[in-house]
Amino acid sequence: MNNFYKKGSFALMNKKVLKVINGEKLSPPPIWMMRQAGRYLPEYRHVREAAGNFLNLCYTPILAAEATLQPMRRFNLDAAILFSDILLVPHALGRDLRFEENHGPIMTPLTASDIRKLDITHAIERLSAPFETIERVKAKLNDETTLIGFSGAPWTVATYMIAGHATFNQAPARLFSYSHPKAMKSLLECLADVSADYLLKQISAGVDAIQIFDSLAYFLDETSFEAMCIQPMQRMVKRIKQIHPKIPIIGFPRGAGIFYKDYAKKTGITALGLDCSVPLFFAKQLQKDLPVQGNLDPIRLAAGGDALDCGIDAILNSLGNGPLIFNLGHGIIPSTPIRHIEQMIKRVQENKINT
Ligand code: CP3
Repeated sequence: MNNFYKKGSFALMNKKVLKVINGEKLSPPPIWMMRQAGRYLPEYRHVREAAGNFLNLCYTPILAAEATLQPMRRFNLDAAILFSDILLVPHALGRDLRFEENHGPIMTPLTASDIRKLDITHAIERLSAPFETIERVKAKLNDETTLIGFSGAPWTVATYMIAGHATFNQAPARLFSYSHPKAMKSLLECLADVSADYLLKQISAGVDAIQIFDSLAYFLDETSFEAMCIQPMQRMVKRIKQIHPKIPIIGFPRGAGIFYKDYAKKTGITALGLDCSVPLFFAKQLQKDLPVQGNLDPIRLAAGGDALDCGIDAILNSLGNGPLIFNLGHGIIPSTPIRHIEQMIKRVQENKINT
């Protein structure tokens, strides 16, 4: 099992999420929620309106810090996640980006010849707002709460850049990768390097751990999964660990199915984020090698009642005897009632598994 923080080394050991990432089993397990800052909270809708639009919110540290802290005030969560977006990286590389109501992100589709025009030199300075957000949030958190920074993984970010919007099966990016393999490789390498440098700056600004979202890691064949997901992640993790060898890195290759095994073994990450399609018997096998995080279906959370309780209990019964960070298997959906979140946190925190 991993051993990032040598026993008793720092105050960091008050942080339950870090303890689990360090290989400890905690009962009850720590809990946070992907997309815990967002539209299901009335106070988020208010701050977003004040910002004018979503991107302004990401680029205004005082407001982004407020959005980060909102769920921490309402709920007894063990981690805060920086409020930002994975698409700030392509934006910083000079690609246009806007978020349209009910359509999600829109960008001009990237062509092979656009790749050498990506503005690597100025990218990190354009990403300075999140560093200030981190400093502001850090100043407000107690020493038991873990602050998580994040970026997208190269493949997921590339799918948005190439298609110009969200896609169901990533067909434009897959087609691009087969038609222009060299261009694809250099795009993924560029994203890996810039994203690693961006995460290194988040670490310097004060995050305790980082999560790398490969949210669209499904629909890839074996060869492509290796080339598009594993190799760029290896490159990114190596670059981060050269500077910060002990920083905990949670990898989240959503939808990777059986490839989760390879991903866990080869990328160098320290904990594994599981999506809700990962069967719990398989999750238990993965947990023998790495701490796991997940994997409640966010639709169960939206439904509440027995559906929610059953989903929670199944995860706790299967994974509660090993290092587990309780989380959703993907982001919370905007229509989720707040009382369901309270029900979930209560049930997880009252559950004790003593074996
Ligand atoms: O988790 C958090 O609370 C931190 C903030 C966060 C956001 N996006 C805020 C956000 C994080 C970690 C992300 C990551 C992100 N962004 C991912 C990976 C995780 C995932 O959910 O798969 C992806 C693929 C994106 C790209 C993105 N951003 C899409 C596709 C959309 C539109 C879909 C949607 O949910 O609206 C966004 C917008 C976005 N990012 C919102 C928020 C709160 C909603 C914007 C709004 O206020 O309207």
